[in-house]
Amino acid sequence: MANDYVSFVLKWLLLLLQLVFLIQNADSFSIVKYLPGFDGPLPFELETGYIGVGEKEEVQLFYYFIKSERNPEEDPLLLWLSGGPGCSSISGLLFENGPMAMKLDVYNGTVPSLVSTTYSWTKTSSIIYLDQPVGTGFSYSKTHLIDKSSDSGEAKRIHEFLQKWLGNHEEFFSNPFYVGGDSYSGMVVPALVQEISKGIIKDIMFQQGYVLGNPKTESEIDFNYRIPFAHGMALISDELYVSLKRVCQGKYINVDPCNTECLKLVEEYNKCTKMITPYLILEPACASETPDCYIYRYVLATYWANDESVRKALHITKGSIEEWARCNRHIPYTNDIISSVPYHMNNSISGYRSLIFSGDHDMVVPYSGTQAWIRSLNYSIVDDWRPWLINDQIAGYTRTYANKMTFTTIKANPITCPVIKGHIDLEIQMANDYVSSVLKWLLLLLQLVLLIQTAVSASIIKYLPGFDGPLPFELETGYIGVGEKEVVQLFYYFIKSERNPEEDPLLIWLSGGPGCSSISGLLFENGPLAMKLDVYNGTVPSLVSTTYSWTKTSSIIYLEQPVGTGFSYSRTHLFNKPSDSGEAKRIHEFLQKWLDKHQEFFSNPVYVGGDSYSGMVVPALVHEISKGIYVCFYGYVLGNPITEPKTDYNYRIPYAHGMAFISDELYESLKRTCKGEYVNVDPRNTECLKLVEEYHKIYRYLLATYWVNDKTVRKALQIKEESIEEWVRCNRHIPYTKDIISSVPYHKNNSINGYRSLIFSGDHDMAVPYLGTQAWIRSLNYSIIDDWRPWMINNQIAGKVGIRQSTNQRKALSCFKGGSTANLSGWYQIQ
Ligand SMILES: *[C@@H]1O[C@H](CO)[C@@H](O)[C@H](O)[C@H]1NC(C)=O
Ligand SMILES: *[C@@H]1O[C@H](CO)[C@@H](O)[C@H](O)[C@H]1NC(C)=O
Ligand SMILES: *[C@@H]1O[C@H](CO)[C@@H](O)[C@H](O)[C@H]1NC(C)=O
Ligand SMILES: *[C@@H]1O[C@H](CO)[C@@H](O)[C@H](O)[C@H]1NC(C)=O
Ligand SMILES: *[C@@H]1O[C@H](CO)[C@@H](O)[C@H](O)[C@H]1NC(C)=O
Ligand SMILES: *[C@@H]1O[C@H](CO)[C@@H](O)[C@H](O)[C@H]1NC(C)=O
Ligand SMILES: *[C@@H]1O[C@H](CO)[C@@H](O)[C@H](O)[C@H]1NC(C)=O
Repeated sequence: MANDYVSFVLKWLLLLLQLVFLIQNADSFSIVKYLPGFDGPLPFELETGYIGVGEKEEVQLFYYFIKSERNPEEDPLLLWLSGGPGCSSISGLLFENGPMAMKLDVYNGTVPSLVSTTYSWTKTSSIIYLDQPVGTGFSYSKTHLIDKSSDSGEAKRIHEFLQKWLGNHEEFFSNPFYVGGDSYSGMVVPALVQEISKGIIKDIMFQQGYVLGNPKTESEIDFNYRIPFAHGMALISDELYVSLKRVCQGKYINVDPCNTECLKLVEEYNKCTKMITPYLILEPACASETPDCYIYRYVLATYWANDESVRKALHITKGSIEEWARCNRHIPYTNDIISSVPYHMNNSISGYRSLIFSGDHDMVVPYSGTQAWIRSLNYSIVDDWRPWLINDQIAGYTRTYANKMTFTTIKANPITCPVIKGHIDLEIQMANDYVSSVLKWLLLLLQLVLLIQTAVSASIIKYLPGFDGPLPFELETGYIGVGEKEVVQLFYYFIKSERNPEEDPLLIWLSGGPGCSSISGLLFENGPLAMKLDVYNGTVPSLVSTTYSWTKTSSIIYLEQPVGTGFSYSRTHLFNKPSDSGEAKRIHEFLQKWLDKHQEFFSNPVYVGGDSYSGMVVPALVHEISKGIYVCFYGYVLGNPITEPKTDYNYRIPYAHGMAFISDELYESLKRTCKGEYVNVDPRNTECLKLVEEYHKIYRYLLATYWVNDKTVRKALQIKEESIEEWVRCNRHIPYTKDIISSVPYHKNNSINGYRSLIFSGDHDMAVPYLGTQAWIRSLNYSIIDDWRPWMINNQIAGKVGIRQSTNQRKALSCFKGGSTANLSGWYQIQ
């Protein structure tokens, strides 16, 4: 371990030294706080600058760099290239995956306006948008004597750029690094990745990969697939298609000049398809002068980038370029890579991950051609072709190959989820904007693909020791790595809904503590199994089925967290100490990775739930999810939640006395000895501590401890050998920072965001007495829309219920009173 660390540091220093030597002239970069056309300060960090490459650094490459809006210290760093060759990276920034877009107003002589976007990849990654080759966008050359640009030459120049950029931005050394681009950059990116794999930075930047959208890969393949594509989309007649096939024999590019009949047919094909926008065939080709035409945004961008005030704000070197063009088609350029397939092959061998996506309405690089070359790499499929669904609508298809290459199509139909982060109005308004809805899903995919660093291990369990016969439900257990380098391995039990897992809600359930295993939920609360209450005699205790399990109507993930809880463990000792707010982030990461491995649950309504101490973490987790890109998130369920520990705990003792759980004598002693303070007991007050300890001795919990430590049980659950020593139901020795003092402010924000919530209190729970819970719900000041009334099971009063609701109909806060073993599945349907 220590040696590893030293060699890592030395490697890092060596790299730094090399990178610093590389930089000959001081490169200039500036932070941009305001941009003409954008109202107010920019809501993200923008840096622009030039980096000189080539022998005398005569080539000055311009870049826009935007820091991740989430966590730039840990989020991936992405270098994004636009196509062309010769198209400015503004294309990526303003029209694809950036945080701003052109406002589509008619140009009237003033600087065109910019607006924020909701789908930006910068929400989760830092991105460098690079203008290349020289002559593109704001990149320029100091002399005329430079080598003509070419595909392979660009791979080298961009690699040089990257090294120098990192030399100026050492803080990004250890971030996961990716290269991405679309269209023509499909020719350059694979070669660039190979270049990087031979260079010095590969040793230091872990987990690299690349992302390509509708990538040009090999003209023959890409272009020849256009004709069948146009036929499939009914853009050309059957007759023309049949003739083309017969006469041209599948070759529609570089046609033999003697084959005049084929040339004529190709010409006819061109005429038929001239009227549509080839990269988005649903859009008609149109005059660029009107805002309803797709390409009007390019006109606006050109006005914008040529405005003096904009150039000043971007710190463009005076006199460096004349007219800015979005795509400069006059750059001298040698297309010396005929096919990038051999580079994809080499990159696969080197172990790089890749995500290749195709809009299925793009005709320039049709998805069928992309699929063809991916197939030609001859890797086996590890995750087969299947639709990915959003709200029961097919959003596209995805397939993953053994070379860690994921291919995804994106359907052109705009898809929206009824509740996306509470911004419902905005979503409806944007529903017709093809580009933004597609990008949003791409952002989701990108994030999921980038997140998965190691194979997630999961196993289906059919039998469990102590349970008679095969399990009457589907149980999966597994680990998912979270945090930097995925050192933290979180263990989960997943049980599929016994009714209709395709549509039933997906619930992620957390137990309290902190440090209590999720077995607590599974065996003692809402799971399909319970301990049989026999006296322990040395054999594995028995398990029995329950009738009240929530898994009858929901799929549930029981998660062991924080690290150190149950079977969750850390691969090294170097991980951040868990805390309430830290756990909210880790669990969010877990949920995303889990969903990526279980994409069939993408469109299920997702709920978060838990009880006791998770009352501190769940509201913050919901807040975390609401900031993320997660989609069909509906609400949360909390049982006897700790919300303000001090108040909650101090209610316990009088409550226990009221329920006749403790004797009058004990109650009197407690009151007298502890003076109403049962939480932060003075450690010198040993008498009080001893009295408080009486609450933690519960027979059936001890019983569970025996069950889980049995070797046969561990084996059946696929617990990694030596991952943990002794399992304890609640590990009270986890280093943990309780950094959330009260979760009420989170409940407040989540209500504002429109999430449903169900708060229930077993009226026999003394850990968090229901009186305290009612008090904080009242303090949120929402009006009651369904008043306190008994709710019945089999004509018996099971509890009392009241629903509080804000003025917004969707913003419900409901309050159930009853045991956690009650059938609450009906609640999901009250939507
Ligand atoms: C152009 O339109 C913008 C709003 O779109 C307005 O603020 C500005 O005053 C107009 N300028 C002129 C010269 O009409
Ligand atoms: C792929 O790697 C091999 C072995 O290193 C090398 O010989 C070959 O030139 C590489 N292919 C390309 C296209 O660079
Ligand atoms: C893939 O398999 C085909 C048929 O077996 C073979 O002709 C081709 O060369 C293989 N391609 C690669 C990249 O190995
Ligand atoms: C323990 O009890 C179970 C039933 O509860 C029984 O099947 C088992 O044989 C007993 N084992 C021993 C060692 O007595
Ligand atoms: C609640 O939302 C407000 C406004 O977005 C924010 O300032 C505040 O920090 C949030 N509270 C919590 C506890 O996150
Ligand atoms: C609820 O109302 C009380 C009294 O009007 C006020 O003091 C308190 O701040 C309000 N709470 C919230 C969360 O708005
Ligand atoms: C739970 O309630 C739902 C809806 O009210 C009902 O369909 C279901 O049968 C109940 N389940 C059990 C186990 O009682």
